[in-house]
Amino acid sequence: MTGATGFLGGAVLHQALSRRDGAEWVCLVRCTSVEQGRQRIAARLSRFTDPFTAQRLARLVEVVPGDFTRADLDADPRLDSITHVLHLAADTSWWGEERVSRTNHDGTLALARRARAMPRLARFLHVSTAMICGAEAPSLVEEAAFPSPQARHLVAYTVSKAAAETSLAGSFADLPIVVARPSIVVGHSTLGAAPSSSILWVIRAADRLRLVPCAPESAVDIIPVDWTADTLLGLLRKPQLAHTLYHVSAGEGARARWDDLMRAFAAADPAGGPRDDFTRFDLVADRALLRRRFAETFGLDGALKQAMLRAVRAYYAFCSLDLTFSNARLLAEGFAPPPSFTDYLKVCLENAPEIAEQFADDLEMFVAPEPAQGPAQGPAPVLPRTARA
Ligand SMILES: NC(=O)c1ccc[n+]([C@@H]2O[C@H](COP(=O)([O-])OP(=O)(O)OC[C@H]3O[C@@H](n4cnc5c(N)ncnc54)[C@H](OP(=O)(O)O)[C@@H]3O)[C@@H](O)[C@H]2O)c1
Repeated sequence: MTGATGFLGGAVLHQALSRRDGAEWVCLVRCTSVEQGRQRIAARLSRFTDPFTAQRLARLVEVVPGDFTRADLDADPRLDSITHVLHLAADTSWWGEERVSRTNHDGTLALARRARAMPRLARFLHVSTAMICGAEAPSLVEEAAFPSPQARHLVAYTVSKAAAETSLAGSFADLPIVVARPSIVVGHSTLGAAPSSSILWVIRAADRLRLVPCAPESAVDIIPVDWTADTLLGLLRKPQLAHTLYHVSAGEGARARWDDLMRAFAAADPAGGPRDDFTRFDLVADRALLRRRFAETFGLDGALKQAMLRAVRAYYAFCSLDLTFSNARLLAEGFAPPPSFTDYLKVCLENAPEIAEQFADDLEMFVAPEPAQGPAQGPAPVLPRTARA
């Protein structure tokens, strides 16, 4: 597994290790030592369980210190015996164009080259994103229509993920690659916001601002991280699959319409008042309205709030696309359908801290790229970009 210290990686590991099914997990982790890597995994696992269990589970994992973008140069023999690759690691920041492309495209190809030297490899599950469809996709998105060279991307992140899919398909047909494209992962269906507040804060901000950038009957495709983890494990292990490409998404059965979401907020948080005063606004024409409402609601003091306003704008652009990602292929494989976000919203609100505090889980996605550096002096240390987990 790559990406064990991330949001989805933590969920997958927690579910897989808790099941004690005998599978051995080898995690490629950025760290200075095996013990530091294990502690980083334990810190992520502790968002899903108590610290003692997190430590115990982290001890079950084989840690290979490493950077997946240089995996093709990694001769660690533990990688030779891998039977299933779950490639989750990615640079998920939206605006760091060159760095994001280097990591998500070039890095994925480096990992695929290393996978060629895994003689027992039965599956390489590459986790992409449903948002590679871009901004002008039809309302119901089917897997096979994308990636498309015509797609108009909103951010460099989805460009890099689309390019990785294209290059994998073009140059690695000899590998047993399956692509999973999750839609928008928000919260956990029983732990709520404890594992991460990523994106949840935006939906809460929209509720508090009483502003939506689209028709109330338009939908967002949101899935919980525990269902996503289960489904990815299923796609990793199911011996035969009918396709090599799957949306991991709410689909038509579980997508959330904005008007249903607002009703769910009113039911889950009656103290927030009735939700019948939503204004539909235009993201471009009504910029000033959004800024004013944001300042009245959250304040605009300091860099954090200003970054939060920029992030709200960016997320609103995605939310207004009215996209549902068909999960018909997934359901036909026999995987359980996801719950609807409106069904577990209450759980997500129960343990949620302040909205601005929750934004911290996504702050890194909106940081401008670091300035380009000169050639490295000697071997580069394998360090995480942040000390998030
Ligand atoms: N979350 C969503 O809503 C969503 C939706 C659709 C698709 N996805 C996809 O799902 C995957 C996981 O997303 P996530 O939300 O879990 O992301 P995340 O929380 O940002 O975690 C990213 C992970 O990638 C690792 N990583 C990044 N660069 C690395 C490198 N060079 N070498 C080794 N590890 C590296 C990070 O390690 P460090 O801890 O060392 O930084 C971290 O473990 C991504 O591929 C993403 O595109 C996510």
